[in-house]
Amino acid sequence: MLNEIKRRNLPKTIPDSLTKDNWSAYRREMIVLFEKEEYGVTPEKPESICWEVKKQHDSVGGKAVHNLVNLSFDTPKGEFTFPFDTVIPNSDQPVPMFVYISFHPYGAGQYLPIEEIIDSGYALAIVNYNDVTKDTEDNFESGIANMYPRRNDGADWGKIGMWAFAASRMMDYIQTLDEIDKDRIYVAGHSRLGKTAVWCGVQDERFAGVVSNDSGCSGAAVTRGKKGEHVVHITKNFPFWFCKNYQKYIENEENMPFDQHQLLALVAPRLLCVGSATEDEWADPESELMGAYLAGEAYEMLGLKGLSGDIEVPVEPGEKRFGGKVGYQLRNGTHFLSRHDWLGYMEFFNGQ
Ligand code: GCU
Repeated sequence: MLNEIKRRNLPKTIPDSLTKDNWSAYRREMIVLFEKEEYGVTPEKPESICWEVKKQHDSVGGKAVHNLVNLSFDTPKGEFTFPFDTVIPNSDQPVPMFVYISFHPYGAGQYLPIEEIIDSGYALAIVNYNDVTKDTEDNFESGIANMYPRRNDGADWGKIGMWAFAASRMMDYIQTLDEIDKDRIYVAGHSRLGKTAVWCGVQDERFAGVVSNDSGCSGAAVTRGKKGEHVVHITKNFPFWFCKNYQKYIENEENMPFDQHQLLALVAPRLLCVGSATEDEWADPESELMGAYLAGEAYEMLGLKGLSGDIEVPVEPGEKRFGGKVGYQLRNGTHFLSRHDWLGYMEFFNGQ
């Protein structure tokens, strides 16, 4: 692995001069870089939010309460509202929560074993990403995309930034819930929404941890030397996920002033768990592992343990390399967010 890293000629994870004291200034600088060059500039947090809660019914056989929340806030073009769901297990104690950025409306799709998560003592806040802005090339006319004027300087936010921003607005609301343990709120997503979870968790330090499942290119995988998808593919198929400036790096990745391990490092000192699947060649498990491993350098600089275990010992299919503040798990199979993956993420957070 170490030879492989050298061969790829990756930028240093963190500068040699970095110390605990200048960590937060460095984080801010790097976030600006990732805004300008990859995901686009995130607007200011709205001054206030308001919401309407519609209690649905006791859910999961009476073990939890399911609410539908309509969350509103002011934007330059008026009020914007989006819906999301919360499912909170009955408990005497505040419980941890996943903010799950979802491909599907509540109760649909295969990626979310709600009962298992509730039985494990975790609450969920679930947003259907298409309710924030559509995952299509729509000239930024749907949902929240239409509510902020475009800057036209190459650094306009893309849809990953918009979905991430919505998850932060959910966090604004969650801060008001007594049932939730504010020190254990984690943002999670799969694939394009794993990229989104990482970008959200990097920017919003209220999240105590980030789950990146099979997030691949422009997510947890280091880009230089990876297999499968590259900037050339992702910006051609999904230009609207990113800012325009990212296209400068088409067939020019060697000149990116950053790589994805440096993004993951910005989650430090909080928790980071990266999951891959053995047959997910488009995302590239090895490059995702490398991203997680290298991000560990920031944790070590801060006096914490990064990815635990000897990185020269290959990660076996089915293995969970937990034990530090950065975790990595490798599932057998293809691109998917499975029950097995979720159980691993909860094991990682429970072990902290
Ligand atoms: C495509 C895309 C990936 C993305 C994936 C997904 O395969 O190329 O970057 O992660 O869709 O979101 O399912």
